[in-house]
Amino acid sequence: MTLSRRGFFGRTAASAGSMLVPATPVVPAAPADSHAAGAARAPGEVTVVLRLNGKTTRLTVDPRVTLLDLLRERLRLTGTKKGCDRGQCGACTVHVDGRRVLACLTLAAAAHDRTVTTIEGMSDGDRLHPVQRAFIDCDGLQCGFCTPGQVMSAAALLREGRPRTDEGIREAMSGNICRCGAYPNIVDAIKKVAR
Ligand code: FES
Ligand code: FES
Repeated sequence: MTLSRRGFFGRTAASAGSMLVPATPVVPAAPADSHAAGAARAPGEVTVVLRLNGKTTRLTVDPRVTLLDLLRERLRLTGTKKGCDRGQCGACTVHVDGRRVLACLTLAAAAHDRTVTTIEGMSDGDRLHPVQRAFIDCDGLQCGFCTPGQVMSAAALLREGRPRTDEGIREAMSGNICRCGAYPNIVDAIKKVAR
């Protein structure tokens, strides 16, 4: 069977294994976490409570752990990507209290008592966020590695009512690198949602 690229991404976005939209967030319940409140705390660890993708998650963490490593390694929310791990590519972009932040440069402890949204929390069940839908419709991705970060940045800047011109959008999205060069289609996707 031949499947177009757009068809492929549309299909994978709706499936559980999609990089864009895992069907259900994989957030372990707090009591199942070996470091959850009530469990023995190693010396120096701190308690962090996150409102993560709509669920309250309580953990004890090493204060040196980044939000990115907490999400990916501990909570298995691997939709947020680790690219450079030094604040230069935007692949790790998530929302903290509605603002986009680089999870690789943010300590997990600094997100205590805040609302954190990752790409897994953007869709409403099987219903994609408008930015996710527009990325698929406009072919705003190729390999898809940068896409979760691009979607999170785009959603935040649209919510902020940021620039609507091509130049303004490029400037506002300049922290998100796409090695595949999908930039023109990403701009189209953002303009589509802005309209
Ligand atoms: Fe965070 Fe590259 S992984 S900016
Ligand atoms: Fe491949 Fe952006 S789609 S890096």
